[in-house]
Amino acid sequence: MDGRDRGAALSRVVAVVNDKGGVGKTSLAANLGGQFAAAGYRCLLVDLNRQANLSDDLGYRDSPDDDQGAGLLAAVIGGTPVRPLRDVRPQLDVVCGGARLEDLTPVMVSRLQHHGREAFTVLGDVLAPVAGDYEIVFIDCPPESTILSDLALAAARWVLMPTKTDVGGLVGIGLVAERFVLAREINPQLGLLGVVLFGTGSRSRAIHAEANAAIDRAFGDDSPRFRTTIRHAERTAQDARRLGKLAHELEIEVAHQPVWWESLRAGTRTPRVAATAANVAGDYRALGVEILTALQAAEEAEPPEPAGRGKEHR
Ligand SMILES: Nc1ncnc2c1ncn2[C@@H]1O[C@H](COP(=O)(O)OP(=O)(O)OP(=O)(O)O)[C@@H](O)[C@H]1O
Ligand SMILES: [Mg+2]
Repeated sequence: MDGRDRGAALSRVVAVVNDKGGVGKTSLAANLGGQFAAAGYRCLLVDLNRQANLSDDLGYRDSPDDDQGAGLLAAVIGGTPVRPLRDVRPQLDVVCGGARLEDLTPVMVSRLQHHGREAFTVLGDVLAPVAGDYEIVFIDCPPESTILSDLALAAARWVLMPTKTDVGGLVGIGLVAERFVLAREINPQLGLLGVVLFGTGSRSRAIHAEANAAIDRAFGDDSPRFRTTIRHAERTAQDARRLGKLAHELEIEVAHQPVWWESLRAGTRTPRVAATAANVAGDYRALGVEILTALQAAEEAEPPEPAGRGKEHR
């Protein structure tokens, strides 16, 4: 595959990145992928996490087809195209993560010693032959694993960064920005699609302004961010991982479950699905629209070309 074809195939690859743990990377990848797929877009999720929470969110953990990262590891070692797990949902495929990714780090350390940072391009190489089959690809990056996230940053065209508004979250933004600049040395096409505030219960302008200031300090003034925030909804988050369902799927369950007093009268003991699912699903829907609009605007302004773009982040 030549550079132009590789660039075109990877032009809709979005790395969901933040070194900080628990800021919503996996929830965003799963729910955005799930909603885009439900809306009819062909979508691929790539899981780079050893703990593979994506398999909890989508409900395929320990299914016979869950290879726990073995396929991705073999693809990187052999330089062969990844083989996604098909139809986790209609139109939604997944490259599984899991415990087998443990071996990816030593493999990469050895390659980095021999080939320098160019070695990071291998994920793009094994993804490119299949990425063109999809209208959007999200890579769910792990926390605090420089090497695996650097692989994603070398493959992706875009970075989507969720953050929380606490001090730790704001420090995480700075760390990603440093890595982003380094990644552009081998992947000049990489751009910041935007930052999204995740799990925020606060509508406080002061708190949001502080987060925005931290984003500008890290990525430059007026760096892109999304208006939509994903609200804090702990019960929906618990329902999602307990049931292996996405927020928009829980929203449908909520609509169909009996009203609470009927369950009470019938003595049903199955836990009820929290009604906040509909609000959270709505947040992801609104964010999905913003993301598609941003992608289309960027693509219209700057048709895909191989290497060597300008300095601006988007
Ligand atoms: N809207 C929400 N409100 C509150 N908590 C949420 C929400 N959505 C998800 N969570 C919970 O927040 C936690 C972190 O979310 P998630 O796993 O998506 O973050 P992450 O950045 O991928 O974490 P890690 O860095 O460990 O991979 C999880 O326990 C998840 O269930
Ligand atoms: Mg995660």
